[in-house]
Amino acid sequence: MPGALPVGAPWPKDNQLNRAPGTRSFHAYVHVPFCEVRCGYCDFNTYTAKELGGVSQATFHQHLISEIAFSKKVLGEMPALSSVFIGGGTPSLFTAEQIGAVLESLGESFGLASDCEVTLEANPESTTEEYLGEIVEVGITRVSMGVQSFDSQVLQTLDRQHDPERVAPLITEAKELGLVTSVDLIYGAPGETLNSWSKTLSEALALGTDHVSAYSLIVEPGTKLARQIATGEIGPTSEDLNAEMYEHATQRLEGASLEWYEVSNWGKPSEHNSAYWKSQNWWGYGPGAHSHIDGNRFWNHKHPTSYQKALSDGAPAAGIERLTDRQMLEEQLLLMLRTEWGVERELFAKLEVPPELVAQEIAAGNLELSGADCIRVSRKGRLIVDGLVVKFLSH
Ligand SMILES: C[S@@+](CC[C@H](N)C(=O)[O-])C[C@H]1O[C@@H](n2cnc3c(N)ncnc32)[C@H](O)[C@@H]1O
Ligand code: SF4
Repeated sequence: MPGALPVGAPWPKDNQLNRAPGTRSFHAYVHVPFCEVRCGYCDFNTYTAKELGGVSQATFHQHLISEIAFSKKVLGEMPALSSVFIGGGTPSLFTAEQIGAVLESLGESFGLASDCEVTLEANPESTTEEYLGEIVEVGITRVSMGVQSFDSQVLQTLDRQHDPERVAPLITEAKELGLVTSVDLIYGAPGETLNSWSKTLSEALALGTDHVSAYSLIVEPGTKLARQIATGEIGPTSEDLNAEMYEHATQRLEGASLEWYEVSNWGKPSEHNSAYWKSQNWWGYGPGAHSHIDGNRFWNHKHPTSYQKALSDGAPAAGIERLTDRQMLEEQLLLMLRTEWGVERELFAKLEVPPELVAQEIAAGNLELSGADCIRVSRKGRLIVDGLVVKFLSH
C-alpha cells in the first residue's frame, strides 16, 4: 500500500497562506487515484474499484472541480496556467467528458496560457485510437504512455496488463493527431537482460516520440514484488546491471538525438516536470496530491474517502509546512543539480558547502561546469547524484 504522508501543521482556518514574494509561473497537477489492477511493483497512491470505499469513479471529477473552486478562493488572481498534468493512477480511465470538465473548470478559474502544455498519463490497455481523438478535442496536448518494456516476459514480471503490440498504433495515432508524445520505460526488472533492454530501447526509439523517461525499477517495501523477491519466487535485481542499463540507455537515446535534460529524462523537456525542478508554483488536486505555493508546501488527505470528506468539511489538505530559506536552497540543490541547467555556483556558497568538496567532485568527473557560472552533474555522476547532494548537505 502507498507510504505515509509527512507530518505538518494543520491547514489555516482562515485559508490564508503566508506567501513569500517572487515571480513564479503557475501549474496544476491533477491526480486520478484509480487503477484496474495494482501492478506488483507500484506503491503510488492509487486504488482498485474494490479499495475505493464509497468513492465513485463516475463522479470523482466533481470533487476535483470542488477543489479547483477552493484553490481559487485561497489563491485569488494567479498567472494563467503554464501546464496541467493529469497523472495517476490511470487517468485514461477518465472519460474525455470528465477530463474536459476538469480542464474547463481550471480554465474558468485561472485561465490556461495559450501555449499551456496539457499532459495525460495513459496506459495502453485503457487507451484506444478513438479515445485519443476525443481527448484532443477537450484540450489534451501531450500524452505520456506507460510502456515500461516491449518484452512480454518483463511485463509479466512487472505484473503489467497490456499487450506491447498496442503501443505503436497508439503512438502513431497520437502523432497524427498532433499530440506531443512521451513514453515511460522501466529498466532493471528481475530477469531482464541487457539484450532485452536494448530491444526495448530499439522499439521505443522506432516510435519516434518527442520524449522518453527511463526509470530504474525501485523495489518498494510492502509491494507484491518485494514479497516475491523476499520469498525467492522472483530473482533479485542487480545494481551493477542497472548501472550498465542506464549507461546503455544514455548512449542509445542521446545517439538518436533525444537530448538528455534530467537524470531519467530525454527529449523535448516537459514544461510541467521542469516547473517542479525549478520550484515554481503548483497546486496538486486530488487525494494525496502535494502543492507548492510561494514557499508553502501542503498535501491532501491520502485515501479518496478521507479526501472527499475533508473537502466537503472545508479544506482537503492534511498538513502544511512553511519552508525556511535554508530548506528552499537545499531543495534547489537537490532538484536542479540533476538537470542540464544545473545550479549557480553561488548556491554552494549560500549553503556553506566547502569549495574544496565541490572541486573534488569536479576533479573526479562527477560534476561539470555548465555555462560560465553553473555546475551540473556530469554523465558519469548522474547515477550517484543523490549521494553527492547528501554529501554536500551533511558536511
Ligand atoms: C505511477 S505511474 C502512473 C501512470 C500509469 N498508470 C502507468 O503505469 O504508466 C507513472 C510511472 O511511474 C513509474 N513507476 C511507478 N512505480 C515505479 C517503481 N517502483 N520503480 C520505477 N518506476 C516506477 C512507471 O514508469 C510509470 O510509468
Ligand atoms: S497502472 Fe500505473 S499507477 Fe496503476 S498500479 Fe500500475 S504503475 Fe501503478
